Amino acid sequence: MKINWYPGHMKKTKELLIKNLKLIDIVYEVVDARIPYSSKNPDIDTIIHDKPQITILNKFDLSSNNGNKIWNDYYKNNDKSFVFVNAQKKQGTEKILQISNNVIREKRKTLNKKGIKNKAIRAIIVGIPNVGKSTIINALTKTKSAKTGNKPGVTKGKQWIKLRKNIQLLDTPGILWPNLNDKKVGMNLAFTGAIKEDVFDNELLALKLIDKLISLAPKLLEARYKIKIKGKESIEVMNDIAKKRGCIVKGGEVDYSRVSSIILNEFRNGKIGRVTLEFPPKHE
Ligand code: G4P
Repeated sequence: MKINWYPGHMKKTKELLIKNLKLIDIVYEVVDARIPYSSKNPDIDTIIHDKPQITILNKFDLSSNNGNKIWNDYYKNNDKSFVFVNAQKKQGTEKILQISNNVIREKRKTLNKKGIKNKAIRAIIVGIPNVGKSTIINALTKTKSAKTGNKPGVTKGKQWIKLRKNIQLLDTPGILWPNLNDKKVGMNLAFTGAIKEDVFDNELLALKLIDKLISLAPKLLEARYKIKIKGKESIEVMNDIAKKRGCIVKGGEVDYSRVSSIILNEFRNGKIGRVTLEFPPKHE
């Protein structure tokens, strides 16, 4: 799904969400575990204000073990509620409900004191496009009923899906925008495929990704393409990959468009290996 965010659009979405938040007890913000910072909405704190929140780091099957550990420590040290999830395999999804119960325990106690027993807790999933919001809704509801939302914000005619532990989930995710002013963020979103290729020049993007992989995961790159990268520039590495993959046109020229697509696609679907692309500030 492609959304062109512009200020008016963002303002409207924000207002719609703030209005609908009155109905919500807990917000699940989904981010991509490979880029927990870049895939975050920059205004989430002002939007949800003091609502209880859980960060869902989805696609942890694509981020590195070491990266997951570092982000785990970061969230823990900052006293955040969070959970690592692989929504495709339904790993970690049950934990979302357990953590929700801890997060809203105080609210339940207050309600109990007022004599309001067994009131369902209402939750919403929010996040930027492509982080896996719909997949998580499907995993939690164990049906294919959750459709990929195509309207930003919370749409009319919303439905609540009953989950276990007396939690109800809004069937439509709130679609938020990334930090479009930060070039690094844009690049990370393009590497993971959250921003579609036509926004960036494919060949330049693949070269930048090679640069990143040379510094973050050289061994994975060498193993995937059976190449040696020590002392090489990214363009030389790309040429080597092109040769290995037969991306050579008549006259022996490299087919840069084809080799770039191969590298980007193989990175996005995890074939190159599990790589975390960014780390909390002190680890950068
Ligand atoms: P959205 O609602 O936030 O826009 O995201 P959506 O659920 O549509 O998921 C975006 C893509 O990410 C989908 O792939 C989905 O299968 C994939 N995905 C979701 N969760 C996970 C996860 O935990 N791990 C991995 N590896 N992938 C995940 P797609 O290629 O766009 O669609 P499809 O091929 O699955 O149909």
